[in-house]
Amino acid sequence: MEEVNQAKRPDRVLSGMRPTGYMHLGNYHGALKNFVDLQSQYDCYFFVADWHALTTAYDETHTIEEYSREMVVDWLGAGLLPEHCTIFVQSKVPEHAELHLFLSMITPLPWVERVPTYKDTIDALQEKDLATYGFLGYPVLQAADILIYRAERVPVGTDQSAHVEMSREIARRFNEIYGRGTDFETSVMGLLEDHGQAFKNDFLACHRGFREGGSQEALEEGLTLVSSSTSLTRRQAEVLEGYLRGTGRVILPEPRALATETPLVVGLDGRKMSKSYGNTIQLRDKPEVIEQKVSRMQTDPARVRLKDPGDPAKCPVYTWHEIYLDEAQREWAANGCRTASIGCRECKQPLIEVINEEQTLFRERAEPFANSPEKVRQILEDGSEKARVIAKETMTEVRSAIGIANA
Ligand code: TRP
Ligand code: SF4
Repeated sequence: MEEVNQAKRPDRVLSGMRPTGYMHLGNYHGALKNFVDLQSQYDCYFFVADWHALTTAYDETHTIEEYSREMVVDWLGAGLLPEHCTIFVQSKVPEHAELHLFLSMITPLPWVERVPTYKDTIDALQEKDLATYGFLGYPVLQAADILIYRAERVPVGTDQSAHVEMSREIARRFNEIYGRGTDFETSVMGLLEDHGQAFKNDFLACHRGFREGGSQEALEEGLTLVSSSTSLTRRQAEVLEGYLRGTGRVILPEPRALATETPLVVGLDGRKMSKSYGNTIQLRDKPEVIEQKVSRMQTDPARVRLKDPGDPAKCPVYTWHEIYLDEAQREWAANGCRTASIGCRECKQPLIEVINEEQTLFRERAEPFANSPEKVRQILEDGSEKARVIAKETMTEVRSAIGIANA
């Protein structure tokens, strides 16, 4: 059994970020760090959601290309490796737009209207006219991004979980509408014909054993046979698995969110760290900039003078201690704060050091790319080409399931 698990293909993971320019510590701890951790465990696809940027920045397009590039430089600086994951650009895989169109046909209007981010963003960006067709379709485009790769897992923060849930609902609806009338059995047999007599016989024996004999063992054996075959594509394996289990034809599998605990990073002023508040530390800030920013960061307002004791629970800086420092250091800071035996400047010192240490590594790794846009362009071109192979494969099936434009 163990061998089977090892032979099994790793789940495919997909996630994207809108190109907002230079990444800050909030972006890093909220998502990017997680991407870096995932790249060695899963078959990962990470992309620049430049079309999604357009939904709100449709009239400020001059920054999108630069922001996309700088964001990817930060990804590379933070440790994403093009050898371990596929990094690409949404607009370089136009199939996303075609799937978005098909999905828009079957997505009921109330579904998009009730997504919490819809009204929230309209309220937050009052100066923008967001009463557009494109902005309403934001989560449908996101569903297309996810479903076109048939990704099993989508690592996103809690603010995005409603979008992932909606992708699941859209996939289910798509499969219900278009997964019926197709000639499933014939395509399964065709597929088996192409994979040799021995494989076909073994597979069909398992199929009979499970579907007719109800043998759980036969099911397991069949699944193993499929997952350990190296000559089947991922999609072919999915089709055979659907046939074996009797779930039928799943054209667009339902993705699941990959929830991870991420700390909420506060900004220099104690509010949530956000580019729009101007309270960030960027991933490639220089040491003197980091020192200066941390030095002026908000502390517990009760500590006006050195001899005033403070409360770490009321101090934004202490939330960073919790992210960056070990228990002994945190203990030192908390005690020193409560007993007024250390000053805020002293308390911030170890933070400045660890952040600088981390950022130095990021800057060093980013440097060759920051200085050579051509290298970044090449990575994105290669990644987009690789992503496109899968997207095209899905679209061929999608068109044929719908019965349009594949002849
Ligand atoms: N909406 C996401 C965000 O704002 C970005 C995004 C677009 C995305 N398409 C996606 C995330 C697909 C995950 C999967 O962060
Ligand atoms: Fe915050 Fe440290 Fe100052 Fe206390 S001593 S208020 S924890 S910075």
